[in-house]
Amino acid sequence: MCGIVGYVGEKQAAPILLDGLSKLEYRGYDSAGIAVFDGEKINMTKAKGRLKVLEEITHGGSTMPGVLGVGHTRWATHGEPSDVNAHPHLNRDGSIAVVHNGIIENYLKLKKKLVKKGYEFVSDTDTEVIAHLLDYYYDGNPLRAITKVMHRMEGSYALGIIFKDFPDELYAVRKDSPLIVGHTETGSIIASDVPAVLKYTRDVYFIENEEIVRMEKDSMEFFNVDEEQIEKEPVHIEWDVDAAEKGGYEHFMLKEMYEQPKAITDTFSPRIRGNEIVIEELNMSDEDIRAVKKLMIVACGSAYHAGVTGKYVFEGMARIPVEVDLASEFRYRDPILEEGTLVIVISQSGETADSLAALRESRERGAKVLGIVNVVGSSIAREADNVMYTWAGPEIAVATTKAYSCQLIALYLLAVKFAKVRGQISDAQVKEYIEDLKRLPDQVELLLNNKNKIQKFANRYLAAKDVFFIGRGIDYAISLEGSLKLKEISYIHSEAYAAGELKHGTISLIEEGTLVTAVLTQEDLFKKMISNIVEVRTRGAFVLAVTTEGNDEVKKAADYVIYIPRTNRFFTNSLAIIPLQLFGYYISVGRGCDVDKPRNLAKSVTVE
Ligand code: M6R
Repeated sequence: MCGIVGYVGEKQAAPILLDGLSKLEYRGYDSAGIAVFDGEKINMTKAKGRLKVLEEITHGGSTMPGVLGVGHTRWATHGEPSDVNAHPHLNRDGSIAVVHNGIIENYLKLKKKLVKKGYEFVSDTDTEVIAHLLDYYYDGNPLRAITKVMHRMEGSYALGIIFKDFPDELYAVRKDSPLIVGHTETGSIIASDVPAVLKYTRDVYFIENEEIVRMEKDSMEFFNVDEEQIEKEPVHIEWDVDAAEKGGYEHFMLKEMYEQPKAITDTFSPRIRGNEIVIEELNMSDEDIRAVKKLMIVACGSAYHAGVTGKYVFEGMARIPVEVDLASEFRYRDPILEEGTLVIVISQSGETADSLAALRESRERGAKVLGIVNVVGSSIAREADNVMYTWAGPEIAVATTKAYSCQLIALYLLAVKFAKVRGQISDAQVKEYIEDLKRLPDQVELLLNNKNKIQKFANRYLAAKDVFFIGRGIDYAISLEGSLKLKEISYIHSEAYAAGELKHGTISLIEEGTLVTAVLTQEDLFKKMISNIVEVRTRGAFVLAVTTEGNDEVKKAADYVIYIPRTNRFFTNSLAIIPLQLFGYYISVGRGCDVDKPRNLAKSVTVE
């Protein structure tokens, strides 16, 4: 996600800001900027692209005098990557500067109100709303203005704020987006992550939700949203820089798996209004939605697997025919795109060559394309007719986890929306689906916290030669992804099969001790799956079953059972994937593989 650094002290701020931002580069970003108060006014420099560009423009910060400032590396959410959308953002007379991590969900509503009051916006960001809102509430008391703004904002935020009127003070505040503050030998510093401050201090305060900090060169006060002062204890950081970049996790993949509850929430919550699903970026009227005759989902790798899940969800819930294709196949197979076909291209990076080619092919043939994309401003996002972003944040590990989970969420949201508009489900059912969506983050967290059980199991299979994943229906879709997670990072041969296909050839591969992972979350298919488990066990397989709580029958059939919490039959993949991700991860760790950068693979496949 974006990076924040802020400093107030006796040293020139700009070089410290740039240095701190450079320590956050690993998180991914598309533009950067700093704002520094020079004693008279707040000066700002922003640049799209690498931090190096900003360093060059400011000569390492030396051209920006002043001892109070904030800096930011931006990962675009609202508005494409550009100089003007980069942070910081200023209020109308340039006397307040703000940097922001997170998403302000009600920014459109706030923006409308501010425009009515005469405020002019220069960027497409949600953050600019904060700068103008601070301006609106500011009456000479920064703390009061900040708390008033906090009461108005919905969503997540970590903010660094400076006020021209208070040249010795730096403000920081957070809600659902991390922020730390600390004292250095020369002043006070804030950052969104530990690596940015390690060079200056190892004693930091972790700001909790809805807490505000007012810092001066050598003092620091903490407040709650009622402006009452609160006490906080510093924490001593022992991590080295490498561990700090991973937030204390051993690998980015593990960190990103743990970010899933938040990424899922960030993806669904801006699209839920009360008991309704509102996907503004779809740009489709109810009439347009009703006119869709077929969906064509096109993607590669894990994004393709998300698409396979999408097929079951859309067909089952919204009763729309869905075809799913690998982008590399689609682009060369002279696809038939009849009128009424909506093409959905799914991609984390938004730059995958085959997916982009499939998008262009579809548009040339006159089809409308909806992109489900994680990287804002990427090629697929730019070239699709409409784009629905997954708010997973930057994903660094080659093996996707949180971006895949968010792709599932985007598909569920679309399916519920389509199903409702097309009269396939009632308002009451929409409400239930929304409630189930809201439960998913906690359920995912619960499964993640159960990681030791999976780690123990994985350690028994470090020497496996072949692993098979089987499932029926939507559980086949998750088997595909579970199998890919295992093979790409552990180099163990693995394949996924629709369980009903076993008898048509695959079963001859089963021998004494072969590990078979059976996924069974669909109650109406439990019996069929149990027969398949028995079939492979009779031939010597060891069976790990992933199933829903309450399915006690399976205990008699499988060797080892992992239970996932209950949800509706369409959302189970979001839970079943967690133990499968953990399994792949721990096998890879146990085998001493390079978990985050597996051999021969790249995070973004921009060539055919
Ligand atoms: O960036 P994309 O989502 O378009 O990437 C598609 C695949 O390359 C990607 O999902 C790949 O399969 C991952 N390494 C799987 O973990």
